[in-house]
Amino acid sequence: MKDAAPQTIYLKDYKPFGWIIDDVHLTFRLHPTATRVISRIRFRPDYDVHDRPFMLHGEGLKHISAKVDGHEVELHHVNGGIEVDVPHAPFNWEAEVEINPEANTALEGLYMSNGMYCTQCEAEGFRKITWYPDRPDVMAQFTVRIESDAEHTPVMLSNGNGLYYAQDNTQSPAPNISIYQDPWPKPAYLFALVAGDLVAHEDKFTTMFGREVDLSIWVRPGDEHKCAFGMEALKKSMKWDEDVYGREYDLDEFNIVAVDDFNMGAMENKGLNIFNSSCVLASPETSTDGNFERIEAIIAHEYFHNWTGNRITCRDWFQLCLKEGLTVFRDAQFTADMRSEPVKRIDDVLALRARQFPEDQGPLSHPVRPESFQEINNFYTATVYEKGAEVIGMLKTLVGDDAYKKALDLYFERHDGQACTIEDWIQVFEDSTDRDLGQFKLWYTQSGTPNVTVREEYTDDTFSLHFKQSSEPTPGQNKKLPQVIPVAVGLLNDNGEEVVPTKILELTEPEQSFSFEGHATRPVPSILRGFSAPVVLHQDIDNSRRAFLLANDTDPFNRWEAGRMLARDSLLSSIREGNAPNSDYLVGLRTLLGDTSLDPAYRALMMGQPSQSELAGVLHQAGVTPDPAAIHAASEALRSAKAEAFADILPEIYAANQVSGAYSPDAEPAGKRALANAALGLITKLDGGATAATQYAKANNMTLQLSALSALLDAEAGDEALQAFYDQWRDDRLVIDKWFSLQVMHAKPEALAKTTSRLTNHLDFDWKNPNRFRSVMGMLAAHHAGFHHESGASYALLADWLIKLDPVNPQTTARMCSAFQTWKRYDEDRQKLAGAQLKRIAEQPNLSRDTSEMISRIRG
Ligand code: ARG
Ligand code: ZN
Repeated sequence: MKDAAPQTIYLKDYKPFGWIIDDVHLTFRLHPTATRVISRIRFRPDYDVHDRPFMLHGEGLKHISAKVDGHEVELHHVNGGIEVDVPHAPFNWEAEVEINPEANTALEGLYMSNGMYCTQCEAEGFRKITWYPDRPDVMAQFTVRIESDAEHTPVMLSNGNGLYYAQDNTQSPAPNISIYQDPWPKPAYLFALVAGDLVAHEDKFTTMFGREVDLSIWVRPGDEHKCAFGMEALKKSMKWDEDVYGREYDLDEFNIVAVDDFNMGAMENKGLNIFNSSCVLASPETSTDGNFERIEAIIAHEYFHNWTGNRITCRDWFQLCLKEGLTVFRDAQFTADMRSEPVKRIDDVLALRARQFPEDQGPLSHPVRPESFQEINNFYTATVYEKGAEVIGMLKTLVGDDAYKKALDLYFERHDGQACTIEDWIQVFEDSTDRDLGQFKLWYTQSGTPNVTVREEYTDDTFSLHFKQSSEPTPGQNKKLPQVIPVAVGLLNDNGEEVVPTKILELTEPEQSFSFEGHATRPVPSILRGFSAPVVLHQDIDNSRRAFLLANDTDPFNRWEAGRMLARDSLLSSIREGNAPNSDYLVGLRTLLGDTSLDPAYRALMMGQPSQSELAGVLHQAGVTPDPAAIHAASEALRSAKAEAFADILPEIYAANQVSGAYSPDAEPAGKRALANAALGLITKLDGGATAATQYAKANNMTLQLSALSALLDAEAGDEALQAFYDQWRDDRLVIDKWFSLQVMHAKPEALAKTTSRLTNHLDFDWKNPNRFRSVMGMLAAHHAGFHHESGASYALLADWLIKLDPVNPQTTARMCSAFQTWKRYDEDRQKLAGAQLKRIAEQPNLSRDTSEMISRIRG
């Protein structure tokens, strides 16, 4: 049944289910178009709550039968499911439904991908499999029996431990039977089933208390050679969670499956993680250093969910950040430990500014814990995930490392097996530290990016910092209260020596001052070290001060930030006043690049400059309407100026950072390649692609091959290499995704819509595959000057494709709508063009709940 008007769900309306489940038995008779699902569930009343009708969710189910204690019952259809008259006593529920996995293009529930059965149930996909209380606060033990024909689905997996596998000769034709039992109670969103012709890359792990765990990564035949790296990442994650959080794995097996058609990155189903193949499959020939690092992080993330998400889950979907913010924070700690801490921090802040800040400063702004939604899938956002992780980082900074550890131990001890709220989480910290965190909780409930302004004063040996904090109104929140903002500050003297080591200043008031006494000379402050809070810092300092910090700051994050701000201000002054690139920036950066005592990965980050959309955001925040063409021109001019200014040192940097020997994705060689490839980008501006062509010809790994191809395209000398690349990789879907992306990325702004449109006519543009769709349309949206080209052609093209994809896959469509979230930053003509496309999408008949919610929020 389709809803008439979209319904809004509110946190304040939360009510428990009213029944408790003792156990769940599911039988799946798999068939591509007519799978039967038989459920047997024991319910008993929750005597604390006995005022509700018995309601089960269900969506798109073909009903066969339903019995209560053996008697067929009548279903009363209600919004989102059914109500049934049941006794007010324990009873047995038995139901049979039929579903069609092959027709399931939304990739939610049970669906087929390349001939294999798989599931995605978070957040509310289980209701597409059978009648069930599909809510995270209903936890139960599952036993799952899978029956299927042996030929097409030799491998059949579900959650927990495999109990039994055999052919059933009592039926004809005799199906294969597989039985799995999960001893750990879990909500339905963690259910998973996989069946198909799969092969395993196997290994073993012995836990801290001696449990032997069988590890498998399951892939389609032909992908076996892409599993080894993921397996190493998994073992490192298991060990790290024991060492750092004291968390042991709790089943006899742990399975990962790679799936080609997947809406998101990966999913932490209990004991059976399902991954988008792009987030687990890796080989040196086909994956870049960036892919390797991301895969390692995602494997860790999903594994860490076993404790933060599965053993302790969320009471309701408003609490999503309880598991996601914490798990992102944990995977960031892991990556910092495996690789470089400062580099990881800078990468995360770059991502936060690129994705979370625009969200929080526009029409989609919402609190880390939202208060209402129409479609929960629309709230798997940068705010919930990344700002959610920042909030945990601030909490740790405020209470200290030891107290954080104590609080986490208490959290696991007190809440194991429960479905919790943010209140529970905060209570754990209050109980273990005796701190009042009432004001801190505003980070969860108040949306928007706080602005922090700082002014310096120096009188009579006393150096003072005067802070102000404020937040602009966001949708649904006009008035803001001051938040607790930990500001890490250190002081340097004129020689660049640290005279006051990093100290945490706690801002709690709208205005607040802090003094440092006994400084005979005026110190230089380094403020918001390590990006200690997700805020916008306004500091009235000149270029020479920034250059001083770029040369001397003892905090690696702020040293990088000083360079970043110089680059940013240089760009802003070219955009606004047509000024030439700033020489403090070029001189400072030059010194740094030549400093071989610095980590190459860090120097590579230093070479970067703010993206065009970041600049548009900064201009908009400053009350200036951004002009995409001017931003593009200034960005290109700065890159050319860098190429000119560093012409003499670039070949040396390039040569010194070549890596010899067998490829390794480790941080050290990857950092060298990052620096060499950043140098290559600038060298190409000078030599027209000669160096890149040589690198392309010699490349024996994807990092070198792709960066060379990218440089060649930049120099408009890439046609031949592009064809060669296609011919070499035409059978590898993940590499062909890169081939599509690169062409969109390198289109001239005025040609973007045409180039993209041409690519959508390519035979390999399989638009129903989310990775392929994103590799083209995601890049269209990310191409700032081209997406916002004055013709409006890209707006129209994206809208065409969103309209086309929506009936097929609402979730992926809705996510991509956020391309339009900044539309009100731009001039009136562009607003008219984008606004017309948004209206056209909104007026489509039968628009999905997902897309309709996104478009209506974006239109405002
Ligand atoms: N819990 C998964 C993760 O963070 C994400 C799944 C999101 N799925 C969705 N349909 N919204 O690892
Ligand atoms: Zn997650």
